Amino acid sequence: MDLSDLDLDAAVAAITAATEAGELADLRKRLVGKGSPAFRTRESIKTLDAADRPVVGKAVTDFTKAVEAALEVRAGELGPAAPTEPPLDLTLGTHGRGRGHLHLVTQCQRELEDVFVSLGYRVAEGPEVEDDWHNFEALNFPPGHPARAMQDTLYVDLGDPEQVLLRTHTSPVQIRLMESQPPPIYAVMPGRTYRNETVDARHSAVFHQIEGLAVDRGLTFGDLAGTLETFTSAYFGKKVTSRLLPSFFPFTEPSAEFAITCVFCDAAGCRVCSQTGWIELGGCGMVDPNVFLAVGIDPEEYTGFAFGFGLERMPMLRYGVEPIKTFFDNDSRFLSRY
Ligand code: DAH
Repeated sequence: MDLSDLDLDAAVAAITAATEAGELADLRKRLVGKGSPAFRTRESIKTLDAADRPVVGKAVTDFTKAVEAALEVRAGELGPAAPTEPPLDLTLGTHGRGRGHLHLVTQCQRELEDVFVSLGYRVAEGPEVEDDWHNFEALNFPPGHPARAMQDTLYVDLGDPEQVLLRTHTSPVQIRLMESQPPPIYAVMPGRTYRNETVDARHSAVFHQIEGLAVDRGLTFGDLAGTLETFTSAYFGKKVTSRLLPSFFPFTEPSAEFAITCVFCDAAGCRVCSQTGWIELGGCGMVDPNVFLAVGIDPEEYTGFAFGFGLERMPMLRYGVEPIKTFFDNDSRFLSRY
């Protein structure tokens, strides 16, 4: 029999570390109770040579006495056992890990899609790797047009130089849609977009946009303004209003920037809106006749309006999320909050 099983130092250390009477009872069982190493050693004595028996017997007895003494000392230090109360049930739910849910940007995308679907729009998608024609040329950015430089394009090393790229906006989906079906068209086009941006609190190289396009007979700038007002108040609430300011985009004429009253200060002026009371959301305008000509739609017969804006911006404003990279960090503490 191996007497090293009777490790008194370890036993005393465990007893000294005990913090309540229940633990001491458990230790007594484990150290000297039935089935313990001490118990088994004592049981084995009868199988030993007569000469070995007293040595082993004494070792077990000494060990047992020392353990009992240490238990008694520790019991004295801990004081009387606390009255037993029904134990507090801290059992957590038994359904395992929480269920996943849609990312905040996807939730926003679906919510906006719902608003536009209720206005009679359909949802369309296009490729993230685009060609120069759809991303620029057909949108009235001719080669060398300075507006191309506004978009810090990430090119894909495929085919002729600078012909294949990661789309810099969702506007090319307008072209794909108009190429594939005759008017009337009422569609929103959400999706991921890419720019060679320096990352800061509000800019990321990967982000999402949602594009809108309506092409029909007799559409006017008033229809555009009404549509923008409808969707901004559907998403942000009735007290938010929108406004349009003149701007320039090659694919719309006239073009405008649309802004909403600041959701943080109710247009009184604060840090977020740079004291202006307004927050810019995106661009819009009447479809330029050159765009219609590029896709074979007669600009004398049809008019149209378009708009586009960043998707992350919407929940950033609604919930005060910043910086934009928070959406892409995949931190479950953020993701599970929404
Ligand atoms: N594509 C533009 C951008 O990314 C946004 C935009 C402006 C879209 C005007 C439109 C529009 O459809 O009419 O900056």
